[in-house]
Amino acid sequence: MNTPPLPATPSEWRAAAQQAATPAEALTAWREYLWLRPDDAEALLAQALCWRQLGQKGEEVQVLQRALRIDRENATIPLELARAWLDLAEWDRAEDALTRAEMLGADVEELRQRLMHERGSLPTSYARHLFNDYAPRFNEALKGLGYQAPDLIAQTVWKYLTPPVDILDLGCGTGLSGLPFKDIKGRLVGVDLAEQMLHEAAKLNLYDLLVCSDLPPVLEGGGRWDLIVAADVFVYIGNLAPVFERLPDALNAGGHVAFTVEKGNGPVPVLQDSRRYAHGAEYIEGLLGQNGLKAREIFEVVLRHDRHQPVMGQVWVIAKAN
Ligand SMILES: C[S@@+](CC[C@H](N)C(=O)[O-])C[C@H]1O[C@@H](n2cnc3c(N)ncnc32)[C@H](O)[C@@H]1O
Repeated sequence: MNTPPLPATPSEWRAAAQQAATPAEALTAWREYLWLRPDDAEALLAQALCWRQLGQKGEEVQVLQRALRIDRENATIPLELARAWLDLAEWDRAEDALTRAEMLGADVEELRQRLMHERGSLPTSYARHLFNDYAPRFNEALKGLGYQAPDLIAQTVWKYLTPPVDILDLGCGTGLSGLPFKDIKGRLVGVDLAEQMLHEAAKLNLYDLLVCSDLPPVLEGGGRWDLIVAADVFVYIGNLAPVFERLPDALNAGGHVAFTVEKGNGPVPVLQDSRRYAHGAEYIEGLLGQNGLKAREIFEVVLRHDRHQPVMGQVWVIAKAN
């Protein structure tokens, strides 16, 4: 019996790879092809997908990275790289690759959703982009939604405060959450990761300092506060553990933390279709217990309206347990 001749030319190897019956056979053919045409990024992409089918994640990533060095314009390469990093639970790398794919015009929606669900928190770049874009329209837009979180927080926490009060405003945005405290503030510091929101907040001449940052680094920055406010910001952060772990050390003796959450159920935060997280009381209570904190008040409230429906939430006032 005659065995068919082995492919010899690049195009024959390519055809052999494309017609291979199994990923392992395709991989062998792509390897031969790439030996002859090492700079063919499309072939590298195809080879990477074979590695994926064989469950070889490390090889898959290496080959995709090589393809990306060769072809910086093909959006599918960073998109597939993002998928590979997601499979490896490398969230930050997945996010970088997704951003790159998006800039090249890829539809990244499905993978962004996956990243958000699996990582447990929205990527900080999501909130930064969203709110930088929203900043000039934010105050006006919220008026139309009946937004009440800052006032609800202030009304609830007021009785615990003796002026002057040093206040850290987490996710201060345009400053709506600092305004209710303007007459009792000692030092007032706002932190937000969207610089355009801070730009709007600066116009109020209310804050002593505005810091452009994620929340955990500011909480471990050495300052101590009588009041830490977080109005409508935890909804953009699923996993609140890094924040709550740092609260006890950031509070003065007798200090309080007042925050809102969208009302959820169960032991873990849930990402809603609105792309905001809901946090159940069970989850918050768990964090309090783990970090030597206790609840002083919990109020059920309507935070605002969304598409004419009330968005139900809670105002929490918490303090150190001892
Ligand atoms: C809905 S706005 C609320 C702003 C303000 N607290 C208020 O009540 O008007 C949410 C703000 O949280 C900020 N933010 C979201 N995630 C953040 C994070 N991880 N670190 C710092 N700021 C964040 C956003 O940039 C945005 O300005």
